[in-house]
Amino acid sequence: MHRSHNCGELSESNLNQEVTLAGWVQKIRNKGFIAWVDLRDRYGITQLVFDETRTPKAVFKKSTGIGREDVIQVKGLVIERESKNLNIPSGGIEILVSELSILNHSETPPFTIENETDGGDELRMKYRYLDLRRNKVKENLILRHRVSMIVRNFLSQADFIDIETPYLIKSTPEGARDFIVPSRMNNGQFYALPQSPQTFKQLLMVGGFDKYFQIVKCFRDEDLRADRQPEFTQIDCEMSFVEQKDVLSLFEELIQHLFQEIKGIKLNEFPRISYAKAMEKYGSDKPDIRFGMTFGKLNEIAKGKGFNVFDSQELIIGIAVPGGANYTRKEIDNWIDWVKRPQVGAKGLIWVRCNEDGSYKSSVDNFFNQQDLAEWSKKTNAHAGDLIFVMAGDSQNAQTQLSALRIEIAEQMGLRKSNEYAGLWVTDFPLLAWDEDSKRYHAMHHPFTAPKNEHLDWLTSTPEKVLANAYDLVLNGNEIGGGSIRIHDTQLQEQMFSLLGFTKKQAKDQFGFLMNAFQYGAPPHGGIALGLDRLVALLGGSETIKDFIAFPKNNNGRDVMIDAPSKVSDDNLEELYLKSLPKKSS
Ligand code: AMO
Repeated sequence: MHRSHNCGELSESNLNQEVTLAGWVQKIRNKGFIAWVDLRDRYGITQLVFDETRTPKAVFKKSTGIGREDVIQVKGLVIERESKNLNIPSGGIEILVSELSILNHSETPPFTIENETDGGDELRMKYRYLDLRRNKVKENLILRHRVSMIVRNFLSQADFIDIETPYLIKSTPEGARDFIVPSRMNNGQFYALPQSPQTFKQLLMVGGFDKYFQIVKCFRDEDLRADRQPEFTQIDCEMSFVEQKDVLSLFEELIQHLFQEIKGIKLNEFPRISYAKAMEKYGSDKPDIRFGMTFGKLNEIAKGKGFNVFDSQELIIGIAVPGGANYTRKEIDNWIDWVKRPQVGAKGLIWVRCNEDGSYKSSVDNFFNQQDLAEWSKKTNAHAGDLIFVMAGDSQNAQTQLSALRIEIAEQMGLRKSNEYAGLWVTDFPLLAWDEDSKRYHAMHHPFTAPKNEHLDWLTSTPEKVLANAYDLVLNGNEIGGGSIRIHDTQLQEQMFSLLGFTKKQAKDQFGFLMNAFQYGAPPHGGIALGLDRLVALLGGSETIKDFIAFPKNNNGRDVMIDAPSKVSDDNLEELYLKSLPKKSS
């Protein structure tokens, strides 16, 4: 028996018991005649004591040979500690060691295994197996496990069936590039790894499964960010005979259940707002609604006053920064510089101080009088003591830029509290978006999303006006889920492919299997996929998903621990018919 107890469970109630523990040496404090060792395992830390007078001589001598992160096994007596550590459950006791086995020595680790490490990100990733020994990462992964279990139980109880779908498939378009896998048995042919199980889950509905779910890896070759990994996990679901409201209410219940179970928090009902409203009020399709600072549109009251910058622009919008009137000029200039950074890309910002005495001071006093500025403050909901920032530009840019500013100001003002949560549904997305580069429409969600019934006629006349039966789930300004009611009619699906620029042949080659299936009694169906990594990160109080994934990739898509991706041998390439491919000139 390697152990009778783990390192987190012993307390004063075990006093005078003989126990056997095994684990890693976290810390050694050696005074010469006495040494204390913190022994760590997954469950906690227990202090061991090796004492010249009380420990057998041979064991005491052996104890001088142990070092950090060695794996040891000890037998000993649970005794009361002299100086107790009230912060941990086992802090009242220690083990007076009588037997010691060194099960395995460890090299000196490149960083210490404590809550905050001295290892930089790259080093931590290279030695991820050591990083995983740290409490923080360990707790994140345990949280992930708990979330998965709660989700599985909830969905299983709601009659969903967990079904696996294949990873070696054909492209499923979700807006990113595919990862491609060459086929040895089929000369010159390739599989694509799924960007999502979208088509398969729809086929499961045709197959009569009615309610499907899967906690599933998805693969997308896209630029990485804090909330994006090339392989990530979805809680993927599909349901038959449902309308949008059925999907929304069930998954809202799931999220609320999750927050109740994990955090003991009762989330408010999620407001449902249209994409158009979200853009108008927040300049974002994933607004953080935990704080105000909603946009006020100033076009009518700001144009035509001789201020060129405004007169020539499509949209003029402003936000009121609470208490911002006492920003110094330097602070205001810093914000102006902030929006001019290439990452935001604005040309500048106009500002108005709403003084406590009811007067206004602005950067455009030459063009606008006090009455004009009073109108601006009304539109932006500003009060005395606030500062108004105004952005002008073409609609899309002005909205995105002011939204970035809104989020950053809120972040700096501490309004984006990691322990406060507000969810919402964004609905009524446009079905299509025009892509200037390819001069084609692309699907805002994916090509299988159904247009709103009442907009079907517009598909031929004004496709850009058609709204989709699609929805996103947003939590604290993060998109944590997206889904839609699907097209289940072959003709409509064909029409959609043609709008997206597919020829009949291309559509048939790529998605013929789906359109065929629709001819055999496809039920009306719809679904959603939640980003598990993002959801767990938010529950863990973070927006960085890497810390909640056991073995994540870095920002260049590399696993620095196993050093992937890597070159393969010429033989390998030959076997896969890749060797004779011409080299791209650099
Ligand atoms: P969508 O593309 O919106 O929908 O993806 C669903 C959710 O998956 C998460 N997500 C990601 N998480 C981490 N890294 C990534 N690279 C990444 N990409 C997406 C997001 C997102 O909301 N098949 C549809 C779902 C459906 O229609 O049912 C789909 O995949 O949280």
